[in-house]
Amino acid sequence: MENTRKRALVTGITGQDGSYLAELLLSKGYIVYGLVRRSSSFNTGRIDHIYQDPHDEDYRLRLIYGDMTDSNSLESALHQAKPDEIYNLAAQSHVKVSFEIPEYTGETDALGVIVLLEAIRRVCPQARFYQASTSEMFGGREEGALSERSPFEPRSPYAAAKVYAHHVTVNYREAYGLHASCGILFNHESPRRGETFVTRKITRAVARIKRGMQEKLYLGNLDAKRDWGHAREYVEGMWMMLQQDSPDDYVLATGQTQTVRDFCEKSFAAVDLDWEKYVEIDPRYFRPTEVDYLLGNPSKAKAKLGWSAATDLAGLVTLMVQADLDEVDGKPLPKQEGYPWPPLVP
Ligand code: NAP
Ligand code: GDD
Repeated sequence: MENTRKRALVTGITGQDGSYLAELLLSKGYIVYGLVRRSSSFNTGRIDHIYQDPHDEDYRLRLIYGDMTDSNSLESALHQAKPDEIYNLAAQSHVKVSFEIPEYTGETDALGVIVLLEAIRRVCPQARFYQASTSEMFGGREEGALSERSPFEPRSPYAAAKVYAHHVTVNYREAYGLHASCGILFNHESPRRGETFVTRKITRAVARIKRGMQEKLYLGNLDAKRDWGHAREYVEGMWMMLQQDSPDDYVLATGQTQTVRDFCEKSFAAVDLDWEKYVEIDPRYFRPTEVDYLLGNPSKAKAKLGWSAATDLAGLVTLMVQADLDEVDGKPLPKQEGYPWPPLVP
């Protein structure tokens, strides 16, 4: 059975997207290798529920220590995993933090990608490669829906690093014939979203304020507009890209955009609170340069992949607020949050 299963390597498997993607791939029968950073405390909280004992008969989730800044570990991971598909999700993914640690962000999000592509060329040139590109690359200075053909105007060290990674991925596809695709994903959220991104910061605060555990929520720019979807739908789009005969680049988005203020208002309203009584502005959360407006046009993904977003902002707010209320109330998240993927072990 081992020899007939598809094999995938996922960098960033401990992140929001990595955890949903690992679930999806396991449910499709893959052997999944995940690159995990060494940390002084556990960083596998998002994938603990799919952990398998190495002695299990069906042991298919295999973790390897590695880091995007350590070329040897990347090459060694490729030798171990012998992957058919590689999903590069690892990144210092926080835009504001990238202004504070720009060099590290560049090493991980930009240079790490060319190091990985070079290793793929040497070790497994037939493997299919997914690069996690981002709507941040567009810069958001003008209104209007953004597509695969829209120009890039990065407004942070994070976005600039991702533009580099995007271009080298396209270049390695053209220069060396790698099956390499970039997903230009607009913001996608979930109950597993990191607590310092604005949506989760808001829904977590709403739950804590509702239960009397917090008094205020301090935020930065409320006027920014984002196209927010649900992460578990977006990882399905990543997988679809790698199932195509030819590599290509695709925008994944909902096609709707709302302000941070809208997200706030809806989240507080979900628990019958008036957001204006609780939210205060703290300039520490402003960014040196802001991305004001992001709206995606996902029509290529719909036409070629058959992918479209199902969860709208109202649905996202409802499920994230509920999950945070459950967490505050000590009710653990359901293991797969009720998503109708097939069971993990088919
Ligand atoms: P996330 O939750 O922040 O996860 C990032 C992952 O990368 C974590 O597993 C993290 O490990 C790992 N990582 C960070 N630095 C690393 C390094 N130097 N070496 C190896 N691993 C490293 O991000 P996400 O929301 O799942 O996003 C996944 C990818 O999509 C990222 O590349 C992000 O930039 C991109 N993206 C995200 C969105 C979005 O809206 N979520 C939109 C467009 C693109 P630890 O767990 O140890 O920190
Ligand atoms: N994080 C945060 N914290 N953002 C705030 C806050 C706050 O207290 N107050 C206002 N914002 C505003 C930010 O200025 C930004 O305009 C917007 O909320 C969204 O911020 P984030 O949730 O941090 O996400 P992001 O859009 O900067 O970046 C995310 O999406 C990108 C795709 O467009 C990240 O997931 C990136 O990795 C991803 O590439």
